[in-house]
Amino acid sequence: MATVNDNYLKLKAGYLFPEIARRVNAFAAANPDAKIIRLGIGDVTEPLPEACRTAMIKAVEEMGDRATFQGYGPEQGYAWLREKIAAHDFQARGCEVDASEIFISDGSKCDTGNILDIFGDNNAIAVTDPVYPVYVDTNVMAGHTGDANEAGEYEGLVYLPITAENNFTAELPTQKVDLIYLCFPNNPTGAVATRDHLKAWVEYAKANGSIIFFDAAYEAFITDPELPHSIYEIEGARDCAIEFRSFSKNAGFTGTRCALTVVPKTLTAKAADGSDVELWKLWNRRQTTKFNGVSYIVQRGAEAVYSDEGKAQTQALVSFYMENAKIIREQLTAAGIQVYGGVNAPYVWVKTPNNLSSWDFFDKLLHTVNVVGTPGSGFGAAGEGYFRISAFNSRENVEEAMRRITSKFTA
Ligand code: MLT
Repeated sequence: MATVNDNYLKLKAGYLFPEIARRVNAFAAANPDAKIIRLGIGDVTEPLPEACRTAMIKAVEEMGDRATFQGYGPEQGYAWLREKIAAHDFQARGCEVDASEIFISDGSKCDTGNILDIFGDNNAIAVTDPVYPVYVDTNVMAGHTGDANEAGEYEGLVYLPITAENNFTAELPTQKVDLIYLCFPNNPTGAVATRDHLKAWVEYAKANGSIIFFDAAYEAFITDPELPHSIYEIEGARDCAIEFRSFSKNAGFTGTRCALTVVPKTLTAKAADGSDVELWKLWNRRQTTKFNGVSYIVQRGAEAVYSDEGKAQTQALVSFYMENAKIIREQLTAAGIQVYGGVNAPYVWVKTPNNLSSWDFFDKLLHTVNVVGTPGSGFGAAGEGYFRISAFNSRENVEEAMRRITSKFTA
């Protein structure tokens, strides 16, 4: 008799965003005339930059000609894309990242889950609370946790609360952990990590032989020039960190799919016999076995992000969403609602008015003003009493959503 991976049975309800979609769809079916505005999932709304589209169209034409047709590409991604990323995203900021250390993939969501393939099952794992749910759920699926308690916290994980009291930055754990997930600019709180903060984490990781999984999917939204965009801007990070990045949010590739993971060749972890193993080799082995790369057409589109026009057009997209974030922050603040984030990140983290629970506020917003956000408690127990509003939408929708919310809710 076939059996299932019982670890899946430990997972709480549905994945957060499908659960929200389920509630919204039920409401929409019962209220077909409601004009629902969705500021829940961080999905982009604006069209792909012209430079990317032009490059992809050209690539499609190349695929139609035997002389330029491309079959399987390198599993790690085409060298011409990896070299541009290394030069523009890393070396230009003083980071020592070589093109061969960059692996192109179809998403940093996928990679932050897949990376567990190359790590052992007995690592002590730390996540922030609240947290991007993928980090937790993929560890549950891999059997790295026990069951969840009432608050949704899994036995065996180390939770590092990020709260208004600590400025939503994760404090170093008091115990030794082996794997640490950090996401800055932060999803969901919109908080950022300073250079000193990351320096403390790198020192902790080096002292404890830990590996940091640094999710920098939102780095393009940093507006403060003092803030680091990459963990490799911190000395020593090459020896303790893997970084994940994405074209989803800066270049609008959520539906097109292209991302990257950096695994420095200097990074090692222990084998059962105590020897040091190069993680680059394991990840390369994993990718060449389980992945056939991102399509040529999409990689050509991603490459265009680094052209002069591509840079200007992606910057315009980022600025557009950041203006939305500013409108959200300012309108809610004027209504007396406490907000955080939204300055160097496309997410605004809202304290629910009148101490409503996160899901109560979700339901009230949906039912009274037909606006969808994401309940903070869906990101972890410490997110209770908060609500995330995404800046990814049209200007018209953001302005209308703020008009509706502030007409009904004040703190
Ligand atoms: C979110 O809303 O948190 C994002 O869409 C997550 C993601 O990029 O997968």
